[in-house]
Amino acid sequence: MDPVARNFVAASVIYFFLGVCLGMIMVFFGLEDHMQLRFAHSHLNLLGWVSMMIYGVGYHILPRFSGNPVAYPSFMAYHFWLANVSLLGLVSLWGYSQLLAGIFALMQVLATGLFVVNILASIRPAPHTD
Ligand code: HEM
Ligand code: HEM
Repeated sequence: MDPVARNFVAASVIYFFLGVCLGMIMVFFGLEDHMQLRFAHSHLNLLGWVSMMIYGVGYHILPRFSGNPVAYPSFMAYHFWLANVSLLGLVSLWGYSQLLAGIFALMQVLATGLFVVNILASIRPAPHTD
């Protein structure tokens, strides 16, 4: 398994644990209506646990469906760092600093774009070798 794909899976399960811990804390302390905590909980789970599991498994599996390697392997590490730094920045600062949260949101969008371009290029039908 590619190290970046493995790192995405590892990051995903760590966000899963953080996300459910935060949900549990919200229930325990009656903080369901705390906007920043709800945002952090839902996005740690959805951009962290769910999306990063899809990135990791997707980089490993999706290109194989069409018999190609990942089209732009060098994009993967940029995607990993952009996605992680921006997620942590976003869940820490949304609701506190619109400017900084906006910058992290833009970084998250760029990270997503790197994934989309790479997967679209990777799932093109492989050239016939006969
Ligand atoms: C131990 C596990 C979990 C607990 C205790 C928990 C708890 C909570 C609580 C208390 C809220 C706020 C509800 C409200 O404001 O009405 C919430 C919202 C939410 N949770 Fe969880 N959660 C857990 C796991 C998950 C997981 C695994 C996911 C996603 C994969 C998830 C996704 C969401 C989303 C998207 C919201 C926002 C829903 C909305 O605003 O309508 N949660 N959760
Ligand atoms: C650049 C990435 C993203 C940004 C900047 C972003 C931003 C936001 C914002 C500002 C809200 C409103 C929060 C509130 O008013 O309480 C929100 C809500 C929500 N977003 Fe996202 N989002 C992003 C990606 C995603 C993705 C990929 C998913 C699902 C896979 C998602 C699922 C949700 C859900 C379920 C809610 C409603 C629950 C809540 O209030 O937290 N978001 N998002």
